[in-house]
Amino acid sequence: MIELSVAAAEAVAPVTFNHITIRQSTPDDETWVDLLQALAFGPGRFARAAFRVRERFPVDAHLGLIAEIGGVRVSSVMMTPISVGGINGYLLGPLATDPVYRNRGAGKALVREVTRRALARREGRFVMLVGDPPYYMPLGFQPTSHGAITFPGPVDPKRILVHSPEPELAMRLEGEIAAFRAQ
Ligand SMILES: CC(C)(COP(=O)(O)OP(=O)(O)OC[C@H]1O[C@@H](n2cnc3c(N)ncnc32)[C@H](O)[C@@H]1OP(=O)(O)O)[C@@H](O)C(=O)NCCC(=O)NCCS
Repeated sequence: MIELSVAAAEAVAPVTFNHITIRQSTPDDETWVDLLQALAFGPGRFARAAFRVRERFPVDAHLGLIAEIGGVRVSSVMMTPISVGGINGYLLGPLATDPVYRNRGAGKALVREVTRRALARREGRFVMLVGDPPYYMPLGFQPTSHGAITFPGPVDPKRILVHSPEPELAMRLEGEIAAFRAQ
């Protein structure tokens, strides 16, 4: 019997929630994702937290997801494995939806699915992001301790949010964003 690794098993089937299908991104999506991010974030995007972290540490190809509506790509998200204070986790982002398809649930569906997939591996204990609390807190993200987490480049501490199955972890995380530590 062939034993699938967690990452290979994740690559299997797209999932559909109502009218939104979520699948893993492929190299064929790269140009579209670049264009979408340019449209969503503009020329200043490379100064943003997720872009800076992505420059230093590799994204996880199995956790790059695309949302489609009616077979059309509408939204994308990425994850970068990281650690903070020696604790492994993931940085979510960038998340972007084509303006034509916004407010149809694709963004939130991607956040839920990529967070579920990352934590299901049980290799990282949290998902972190830099984003608007009113958007992410209803999805289970919580504030972190003010000034405790250091990003490469300036970040508003009020926008550093964490999702974790461990209720206390968001407030306990402390340190610089560093590489994911080998298990
Ligand atoms: C933020 C973004 C990804 C949302 O994508 P989306 O597919 O439209 O998201 P959803 O359809 O799942 O959710 C839309 C809902 O969130 C709300 N929302 C969108 N952006 C929000 C924000 N910054 N703060 C609070 N609520 C927000 C919408 O008003 C809408 O509310 P409703 O469901 O009550 O109508 C999209 O607006 C986008 O690409 N923005 C530009 C890039 C960006 O800011 N990315 C996030 C970085 S933190």
